Amino acid sequence: MSVRTIGVVMNGVTGRMGYRQHLVRSVLAINEQGGVTLSDGSRVKLRPVLVGRNADKLSDIATKHDISDFTTDLDAALASDDNLIYFDAQVTSARVKAVLKAIEAGKHIYAEKPTAESTQEALALAEAAAAKGVKNGVVQDKLFLPGLLKLKRLIDGGFFGRILSVRGEFGYWVFEGDWQEAQRPSWNYRAEDGGGIVLDMFPHWHYVLENLFGRVRSVYAQAVTHIPERVDEQGNTYQATADDAAYGIFDLEGGIVAQINSSWTVRVNRDELVEFQVDGTHGSAVAGLRNCRAQHRSATPKPVWNPDLPATARFRDGWQEVPDNAEFDNGFKIQWEAFIRHVLEDAPFPNDFASGARGVQLAELGLRSNAEGRRIEVPQL
Ligand SMILES: NC(=O)c1ccc[n+]([C@@H]2O[C@H](COP(=O)([O-])OP(=O)(O)OC[C@H]3O[C@@H](n4cnc5c(N)ncnc54)[C@H](O)[C@@H]3O)[C@@H](O)[C@H]2O)c1
Repeated sequence: MSVRTIGVVMNGVTGRMGYRQHLVRSVLAINEQGGVTLSDGSRVKLRPVLVGRNADKLSDIATKHDISDFTTDLDAALASDDNLIYFDAQVTSARVKAVLKAIEAGKHIYAEKPTAESTQEALALAEAAAAKGVKNGVVQDKLFLPGLLKLKRLIDGGFFGRILSVRGEFGYWVFEGDWQEAQRPSWNYRAEDGGGIVLDMFPHWHYVLENLFGRVRSVYAQAVTHIPERVDEQGNTYQATADDAAYGIFDLEGGIVAQINSSWTVRVNRDELVEFQVDGTHGSAVAGLRNCRAQHRSATPKPVWNPDLPATARFRDGWQEVPDNAEFDNGFKIQWEAFIRHVLEDAPFPNDFASGARGVQLAELGLRSNAEGRRIEVPQL
């Protein structure tokens, strides 16, 4: 069976996401498994062309993974006809300029979220890609998490009856950087560098809500900078100008109310770093990254409020684990494979720049809600 190889320009591979999830766990893993299989049974391997600002760092990665192509010259990488796809995992603030350049060069584009810092720019990217006729996609990895796939299975199977509400709890403590090194890059905490938890997480909540429950009709958010001063990678103290926690309420079509807390200033007392509880007339479920537990209405206990007595039941014991029923691959890799099929044989890929723009819009309106202290309607894009 035939195997062909296509060039993929990868910008931002020295970063956390670009290196681990996209280069190692997706592109190189795809090659190790023999490529992406197309519908005719043929296979496609990927030739990564690493692009970045620091030749030494690129060279180290290239040597470590036996990659022959790396450059600090984005234009040169885009000039080659062998390179069909441009991928961007740079800091958010650097994305728009590079993606526009790649669209202009006629490359198909795959990009990390958020696709831009403003709705206007995100829409401009979608329009530019459409005008040039290039395929476009945005990373929406949470949709492929085992926990959320099991939740989707419950929804599709009619488990919940009428869904009433969604409660999401996301977060963990990100160290301030003084007495323990911060485990996230410092730009995340500076608004002027594209940071902030609303811009980071609301695009995720947007596609999770839209794909599982329904479009978002309005948003109310309170965004807070709980820790005003942090210490960066060089040991310098800086002012944290971006929000590090956001408390959001989203009205969805169908009357579902979603409430999601996002925080880098919370200590974890949950089974997983993100959990969504969904309550419906016929059943409820709690889904995390990997696991999902459910409780049917027929197995729902009847607690009676009486603070004078100890709790009558161990409530968590009354939930049932939803079985895997499948093998789950890395979500980033699954999406890469889908994008390659989209580019080469027009397979469906709903996670496009238009969808990415709706995610940026939700973040922008969340910040506006916070600034104006009111609920904001979400115009349908
Ligand atoms: N899908 C997800 O779950 C997920 C998770 C985290 C981050 N992200 C997104 O991925 C992107 C990268 O995030 P990260 O956490 O990997 O960041 P990072 O700081 O670890 O990496 C950023 C990359 O951008 C490059 N870069 C280009 N221009 C830069 C500049 N002017 N300043 C600093 N770095 C610059 C860096 O060299 C590096 O390769 C962001 O857009 C972020 O929103 C997505």
